Amino acid sequence: MNTTNKTVIFGGSFDPVTAAHIGITERLAERFDRVIVMPCKISPFKTRTGATAEMRLEMLSTALKHVPSVEVSTYELESKGTNYTYLTLERFACENLYFAVGSEMIAELDKWKRTDIIRSLATLYVVPRPSYPLDRTLTEKLRRVTGGRYEIADFTGGDGSSSEVRISVAMEKPDMFLTPGIAAYITEKGLYGEYAYVRGVYARFGMKQSRIDHSFSAALCGVKLAKRACVDVAKATTALLLHDVGKYVTKEQAEAMGVNFDGRIDGMPLPVRHAEIGAEILAQILGITDAEIIEAVRWHTTGRPRMTPLEKIVYLADYIEPLRNFDGVGRIRAATEKSIDDGLKAALENSVWYIGGDIYPATLEAYEYYCKHQGE
Ligand SMILES: [Fe+2]
Repeated sequence: MNTTNKTVIFGGSFDPVTAAHIGITERLAERFDRVIVMPCKISPFKTRTGATAEMRLEMLSTALKHVPSVEVSTYELESKGTNYTYLTLERFACENLYFAVGSEMIAELDKWKRTDIIRSLATLYVVPRPSYPLDRTLTEKLRRVTGGRYEIADFTGGDGSSSEVRISVAMEKPDMFLTPGIAAYITEKGLYGEYAYVRGVYARFGMKQSRIDHSFSAALCGVKLAKRACVDVAKATTALLLHDVGKYVTKEQAEAMGVNFDGRIDGMPLPVRHAEIGAEILAQILGITDAEIIEAVRWHTTGRPRMTPLEKIVYLADYIEPLRNFDGVGRIRAATEKSIDDGLKAALENSVWYIGGDIYPATLEAYEYYCKHQGE
């Protein structure tokens, strides 16, 4: 690639800046003459962690000070009104302007404002990220929205996003996706701990360590699937962190804690029971009011016809998270690479044809439904 007088803007919330962000910026600095890193404003309603704009800026500036030709811009943080990429590109308009995005952003690309202006001003520079394959649908979307004005970077960005940082903090492994300096900073300031409460929940409901590890691994997997499917990442995280809280709780124990099952779980096979018990623990003990999250926990083991997008993500992440190693999981992961719906169908098929033993009626109904109605 010719690197003469090329400018790239790398935008994001950087809440916080991850090791992957730093790696991508380093690669951009090798390929462009000028790299502008652009943290965006975050609506006060969306800030749940206490990290102020000043803290995000401080972390970014510290993390990137070793990279030459990189400047951290406060333009979006200081601008009045909503940040839109097209407005930023108008402000920084120049010859050979590029706008860098990770491949995890492409699913939502058609929701950006004024993509006609964006493509008239800049080339979209797409950095492939692990677990965010540019499948046929996304490539088609990329071509359509940019009018063909895009380039795929000749390097792959690292793993991990700001959403996954919140899970790693709950795992007490803040350096999983962060450099040691940023991990120390967020620990010192007590940031990004909104899911740390799950450790207390796990202790309360007697979760074994292997089940805790599985829940964290499923949540990390679910973030990636949720982003691909434009599903609310916070809901997917909560549902997956809590999906197995009913695993070690008997019906009697749950009732002693105040849960009322209304006779629903009598006669239910044991492996399915834990999902029902878990859903009612969320609703009746943990005070979770979001019905979508509760239903995703309720149906995570069997699936069902007409699953919501969140239910699909929770079912699939539970099935294929990296700690799972049963025969056939590779086939289901490969199907998921093609599309979430291919993955869902492969998982249901596995449950119906390959696991043996009794098939749950809901699973069979779901399998038959998705054979006929794939993608719904
Ligand atoms: Fe489960």
